[in-house]
Amino acid sequence: MKKILLTGVNGQVGYALLPKFSQQQLFPISRSELDLADQDDIRRLIRDIKPDLIINPAAYTAVDKAESEPELAFAVNATAPRILAEEAAKLDAAMIHFSTDYVYDGTKKTPYVEGDLVNPAGVYAKSKLAGENAIREAGLPHLILRTSWVYGAYGKNFLKTILRLAGERDSLRIVSDQFGAPTSSENIANAVIQLVEKWQWQDQAQTGIYHLTNAGNTSWHGFACEIVTEYEALRIERGWPALKTKVEDIAAITAAEYPTPATRPANSKLDNSKLKQTFNIELPNWEQGLQQVMQQLEF
Ligand SMILES: NC(=O)c1ccc[n+]([C@@H]2O[C@H](COP(=O)([O-])OP(=O)(O)OC[C@H]3O[C@@H](n4cnc5c(N)ncnc54)[C@H](OP(=O)(O)O)[C@@H]3O)[C@@H](O)[C@H]2O)c1
Repeated sequence: MKKILLTGVNGQVGYALLPKFSQQQLFPISRSELDLADQDDIRRLIRDIKPDLIINPAAYTAVDKAESEPELAFAVNATAPRILAEEAAKLDAAMIHFSTDYVYDGTKKTPYVEGDLVNPAGVYAKSKLAGENAIREAGLPHLILRTSWVYGAYGKNFLKTILRLAGERDSLRIVSDQFGAPTSSENIANAVIQLVEKWQWQDQAQTGIYHLTNAGNTSWHGFACEIVTEYEALRIERGWPALKTKVEDIAAITAAEYPTPATRPANSKLDNSKLKQTFNIELPNWEQGLQQVMQQLEF
């Protein structure tokens, strides 16, 4: 049985992955057990556990805050994956790592494919790209999964923010000129489980970068409208409180009207064909992913 070390178990993707593995094979690691900004601690832990596979969803994900904390963002997103990969390589182990749509600058008109030019805009995006490169250089079998707009019933995310704000305010203004695929942490976790089963580590052709998002795409405005619509569809039956914002009260604005410290790509659409062709894995449409997550919400 493979020994699997899973980081970031209190994050969205890590938490969704936790129940998918048998307890005997899994070594779940939270920040309190391992600070990924501490290089010596990482080496010590890997040498101690000797995993066959490292799954690393832990990351510094505060995209705007990263602009003022570049050293910490790079320590967690670039140096930590490098050390994890170096130590794993010494053990002949493999690694599954997560990256982001933000490695692209968003100027392409059609969905990005894995071979497209990367051009990250902000500190977070640059640190994530540096992490990808470090893993590739370590020379171990790896899957780097670029995903986008992650949300779920557990954790801090856009879905939770929209529902909170819609409960407090009469109207919302949401960016409508950035497009991508809202991707459910639960759907990511289900895909990762299939990858763990299907991936032939010794087949070097399978090592590499893959896009992994829910199918279809929308804008942040479209996502917000769908969240409120789905909430309203379930609200009475589930006994949830009424929202102050109705779907028609959600105004579409441009990204220029909502300036943030870090620039986001206008086009975050990722083509998932490589994942389908290599592993026959396909995530559901984003609306379906949202419906599944809404069923899990409690208020
Ligand atoms: N969220 C998105 O929209 C999005 C989009 C594209 C790609 N991704 C990528 O997908 C992956 C999973 O993202 P996610 O949404 O699950 O992230 P998340 O919910 O923010 O979770 C990140 C986890 O990393 C942990 N962490 C942060 N700094 C750490 C440190 N110094 N030492 C140890 N652990 C640390 C956090 O610990 P605490 O719980 O203690 O804070 C948290 O458990 C990441 O690689 C991310 O870059 C995310």
